[in-house]
Amino acid sequence: MMYDLAIIGGGPGGYVAAERAGAAGLSTVLFEKKSLGGVCLNEGCIPTKTLLYSAKVYNYALTGDHYGVYTENPSFKYEEIVARKDKVVKKLVGGVKAAMKAGKVQVVSEEAHIEGRGAEGIEIEAAGVKYQARNLLVCAGSEAAVPPFPGLKEAGDVIVTNREILALKEQPKELVVIGGGVIGMEFAAFFSTLGTKVTVVEMLPKILGPLDDEISALLQKIYEKRGINFCLKCKVTGVEGNTVVYEDPEGKVCRVSGDKILVSVGRRANLQGFGLEKLGVEFLTNKAGKPVGVKVDEHMRTNVPGVYAAGDITGFSMLAHTASREGEVAVNNILGKPDHMRYNAIPGVVYTNPEVAGVGLTEEEARQKGIDFKVVKLPMAYSGRFVAENEGGEGICKIIVGARYHEVLGVHMLGNPCSEIIHSACIAIEQEMTVEQLKEVVFPHPTVSEIIKETVFSLK
Ligand code: NAI
Repeated sequence: MMYDLAIIGGGPGGYVAAERAGAAGLSTVLFEKKSLGGVCLNEGCIPTKTLLYSAKVYNYALTGDHYGVYTENPSFKYEEIVARKDKVVKKLVGGVKAAMKAGKVQVVSEEAHIEGRGAEGIEIEAAGVKYQARNLLVCAGSEAAVPPFPGLKEAGDVIVTNREILALKEQPKELVVIGGGVIGMEFAAFFSTLGTKVTVVEMLPKILGPLDDEISALLQKIYEKRGINFCLKCKVTGVEGNTVVYEDPEGKVCRVSGDKILVSVGRRANLQGFGLEKLGVEFLTNKAGKPVGVKVDEHMRTNVPGVYAAGDITGFSMLAHTASREGEVAVNNILGKPDHMRYNAIPGVVYTNPEVAGVGLTEEEARQKGIDFKVVKLPMAYSGRFVAENEGGEGICKIIVGARYHEVLGVHMLGNPCSEIIHSACIAIEQEMTVEQLKEVVFPHPTVSEIIKETVFSLK
């Protein structure tokens, strides 16, 4: 059968694009070989946030006395925490299935293989059945990058990535995390809250590399106090059974052991195994000339007419919300509606406790770009609601503005629930608002979001 649009990959890039395409009347087929929802729903965003919420509830129980509430011997059952995570995932996968049905999207739960371009359109095969489409959107995602550390293979199931760690039947007593990025820090936060002894080995001088320096240091301090051991400027060089071998900043060889070792050193785009090369799609390459993503323009078009890509496969901004927006841009372009992708207002959130959220330029980035800017910052305690709900809690809101026109360039926060308020900063940046315009917006009182307004008012 001939379709207007074939989509490979049912993650937040693919399924959102399918939903939009179906709603716009395009006949759409979506191929997903594993489970609808992709990494985000099945082994990323949703399961980790569900686990982290259980850890947060446990932490509330432990610290209830700060609020005059007493609970005797708070405890948890690890298997029930994991079971609830599975239940949430199942429910949301069901939601995506229903959305596909509502949009009249044909879902093919098989691995798709691109066969090339025929006289009628792009030809795809899945489980022996042939499909044709006028347009193709490739959203095949990414997988955990596992470097070939010596001894890693021999270590067997001591080694886990973000996928296997979600399925552990038992809570590890000691966990070593290789890579203090987003995945590493979210799992470190989860397990340390439940009492696991956690060590994070990170080769950079800070955790969460792209994050604002001050916020990164503050978060590290908070988790150090709670018992996480951070080994910074330490490069992992190998694994010996359940022991991670690394070089400390002085070049000394050190070792740290755990019953599980999480490898979270980044993700790599899924570029192979489904026939992309048959279409002659161009790739982005790294310094070593290795392909790291499908090359796209701002309309999410590849170099091949009618072939688009969105999400982690572009190797660029590996975030679920980026993928969804990229998918929408691709569909709009297929429909002939002008739309293009902008990356300057994409928020980033780390769901530690406290949460971290940021959008736009950091101070460090603005400096590197040679921008003339000002920084305004306030402790979160300037928000009444924050003080009411975060006894003894630390937090900061930092806003980067252009020195001349006072346009909002970046907003970075630490403190709960900044993940839920960062979007107002996204709107300010997306709409190119100035501080003066932001001052005129009425924020609800009392909310933590008021910290953004308080902070801009402190601009001299
Ligand atoms: P990442 O790029 O965030 O962090 C990897 C870290 O590993 C870096 O800090 C790097 O310096 C370090 N590293 C690399 N090699 C090392 C070595 N040999 N020894 C010690 N440290 C080493 O990658 P991560 O955490 O795996 O996340 C992958 C992707 O998933 C990211 O693009 C992230 O944005 C996305 N993600 C987003 C989440 C969110 O938005 N909350 C949650 C989880 C993942």
